[in-house]
Amino acid sequence: MRLCVIGAGYVGLVTATCFAEMGNQVSCVERDPFRLARLSRGQVPIYEPGLEPMLQSHLASGQLSFTANMEEGVDQADVIFIAVGTPSGEDGSADLSHVLGVADELGASLRRPCLVVDKSTVPVGTAERVAQRIHDGLAARGLGFKVQVASNPEFLKEGSAIDDFMRPDRVIIGCDDADATEHLRRLYAPFLRNHERVLAMSVRAAEFTKYASNAFLATKISFMNEMAGICARLSVDIEDVRRGVGSDKRIGTHFIYAGCGYGGSCFPKDVRALIRTAEQEGMEPGILRAVEARNALQKTLLFQALRDHFSGFLKGRVVALWGLAFKPGTDDLREAPSLVLLDALLQAGARVQAHDPVANAGVAARYPKAVESGQLRLVDSPYDAAEGADALVLVTEWKQFRQPNFERIRGLMRMPVIFDGRNLYEPAQLVDAGFLYRGIGRPA
Ligand code: UGA
Repeated sequence: MRLCVIGAGYVGLVTATCFAEMGNQVSCVERDPFRLARLSRGQVPIYEPGLEPMLQSHLASGQLSFTANMEEGVDQADVIFIAVGTPSGEDGSADLSHVLGVADELGASLRRPCLVVDKSTVPVGTAERVAQRIHDGLAARGLGFKVQVASNPEFLKEGSAIDDFMRPDRVIIGCDDADATEHLRRLYAPFLRNHERVLAMSVRAAEFTKYASNAFLATKISFMNEMAGICARLSVDIEDVRRGVGSDKRIGTHFIYAGCGYGGSCFPKDVRALIRTAEQEGMEPGILRAVEARNALQKTLLFQALRDHFSGFLKGRVVALWGLAFKPGTDDLREAPSLVLLDALLQAGARVQAHDPVANAGVAARYPKAVESGQLRLVDSPYDAAEGADALVLVTEWKQFRQPNFERIRGLMRMPVIFDGRNLYEPAQLVDAGFLYRGIGRPA
């Protein structure tokens, strides 16, 4: 099929590249000239394992192309995906200006009937607004053909985006037209061989399903974080509890890891937007508010633990941070727990030595003054971060932090103290290795 993907951000790039991989002809529209220039040279501006080589091969074969020109991008397309950002607006609701802006541009550019598909995370009713804008634009040009607008939310995770896209748990197609639904089913068939995992539903239900999925996952995390808080008081290890509850199939083993809070470009923003939607409908979203409040609290726990450990005196203390990205496998820092901790540490006068396998540069750009003054040092290895430190804090559980040489670390640190924000380590092993160990929801 001939496809167009509008927006070469995370979702757009992965979508465009994976559809090209399945033999479709894909044109990707990106209006940021800097991003476009890099992509046209085969350079992926985000860190996502496996994406760059795949993109380069399809760029070379001509299966995938990039353009800034909307008319050129959509010219031959049978299906057009909208994959632009929906950031949080000031009141927490989803800011639809990019999505609706694209709809206006489509109204001004389309020359024949096609299927437009929202991949962006958008509140219920957005597809109807997109359709209205497109048809208004067409009418203004004296054109009367029909453009169907469907919703096909994306469930990929940063860091495993290619795999999630190529082997999805399910594909949700929200469409009020049978032919268009069939068209999308055919497009996704190669990703779902031997499995019937396409769920067809109304456009509005698909839009809502995306929010409900992310809100539910965020709820699982906040629930476990609250359990961890109670466990810590009762001398119970949340990790035992996690294994115990997760082995119940009805609960499942995923997304029940207690830690220093969830971040990223999706959960925080989507929970906020859903709260706003509920409020607009005159409802009190008590559960969602609690999920958000718990997460905000959770992001402060590591700092509180450090402050208690140093009896309130952090000035001049050297703190090593391992992991800065909001999760492993990405350089994304949006709403990362590390930033809440860094802000508080710098404010309290601590000296920070931080290492992340890929996110150092992003953090340096956010804290130019602290870097310049030397209060924040971004170093190339976890061992460099530990050197001379009074405490080490694990914030993001990158694989390379799983089995460090603890003996070497103990030798490097001024005081052998580890705060484990992701419960990555076995407390007994660290105590044996001579460390004072503190996890999240684990007995001291
Ligand atoms: C999330 C969803 O998992 C995807 O299904 C969805 O498509 C995506 O949002 C989106 O809406 O675009 P992502 O934000 O990439 O994906 O990251 P996750 O792997 O879900 O992690 C989110 C946060 O939760 C991270 O900060 C992670 O550390 C935290 N987390 C996750 C926990 O604290 N505990 C867990 O058990 C799992």
